[in-house]
Amino acid sequence: MGAMRAIQITRLDGPEAVQLADIDEPSGDDAVVIDVHAAGVAFPDALLTRGLYQYKPEVPFTPGAEIAGVVRSAPDGAGVAPGDRVAGLTMLSGGMAEVVALQPDRVFKLPDAVSFEAGAGILFNDLTVHFALRTRGRLTDGETVLVHGAAGGIGTSTLRLAPALGASRTIAVVSTEDKIAVAKAAGASDVVLAEGFRDAVKTLTDGRGVDIVVDPVGGDRFTDSLRSLAVGGRLLVVGFTGGEIPTVKVNRLLLNNVDVVGAGWGAWTFSHPGYLREQWAELEPLLASGKVVAPQPEVYPLERAAEAIASLENRTAKGKVVLKVR
Ligand SMILES: NC(=O)c1ccc[n+]([C@@H]2O[C@H](COP(=O)([O-])OP(=O)(O)OC[C@H]3O[C@@H](n4cnc5c(N)ncnc54)[C@H](OP(=O)(O)O)[C@@H]3O)[C@@H](O)[C@H]2O)c1
Repeated sequence: MGAMRAIQITRLDGPEAVQLADIDEPSGDDAVVIDVHAAGVAFPDALLTRGLYQYKPEVPFTPGAEIAGVVRSAPDGAGVAPGDRVAGLTMLSGGMAEVVALQPDRVFKLPDAVSFEAGAGILFNDLTVHFALRTRGRLTDGETVLVHGAAGGIGTSTLRLAPALGASRTIAVVSTEDKIAVAKAAGASDVVLAEGFRDAVKTLTDGRGVDIVVDPVGGDRFTDSLRSLAVGGRLLVVGFTGGEIPTVKVNRLLLNNVDVVGAGWGAWTFSHPGYLREQWAELEPLLASGKVVAPQPEVYPLERAAEAIASLENRTAKGKVVLKVR
């Protein structure tokens, strides 16, 4: 077992405390060992630096939920071989390192056209959004999808995927003017500002509302999101970057015949063996053919991980954020 460079969280006082360290490489007899080229950064990494995520590992630990790289070794029957370009899910921690060891069901061959940097930004968000729209949200052809935090990771993923999954229109909600171009570049049909979004949506949809709201933000927008749903609409609860966990007055659901639907992808994958494979079987051809374009992430070198993670916490991140590891 050799040594490797990895990002470590040693204290729970925010992204500034994140450090680059030399630690032992991971090993695992049944695992696929991968030389990591790029590692994705996601909002849970920011929460982890403050001990605010529901998963609370002992310090020191390495954050990072997803990677892309090259297989160094693989057990028989893993479906990948040494030299294969892959993307992989560490799911919660361990990704921001030069080497990871993953169970074979968390490793996916990367289409040739997708770079390591883009590949490290696909799995965590795209599979969440695929799960939210398809499995939980029951998206059907011709529906309209609104997404909050539209210039963020989940947001840009929703804008890239929703049309390929049947949506005929996407409405992106962003907080500031400087994020409009990010949402447009990810494919938004329309972009509106969070301030006053309910009226803007009403105008854009001639009073009808939208079929699905993808909500990674929560907070005080929630009631206006419910009011923005068309009859039969679904509000998908994906996360709470806004901080506050909203409450629902259920008479609104009855009066307007709308649903509030929880979309917790990680937990679903643990209780549904084989689900990740099914998801990738649907997503991979869409990426390989270009029907879904790969993310165009903001790339930081590994040694600037603190800054990269802080950009999610301080809301300056534009699109997906990825670390270049080698
Ligand atoms: N349910 C699941 O299975 C699942 C899976 C993956 C991620 N998630 C969750 O999804 C959420 C989004 O993750 P992400 O990686 O897409 O994050 P991200 O890239 O940082 O995007 C989040 C967006 O939230 C908005 N936001 C509103 N208030 C904010 C605040 N106070 N602080 C920071 N951002 C704020 C920002 O957009 P504006 O500035 O334009 O408002 C930002 O672009 C997180 O809560 C994450 O834990 C859930």
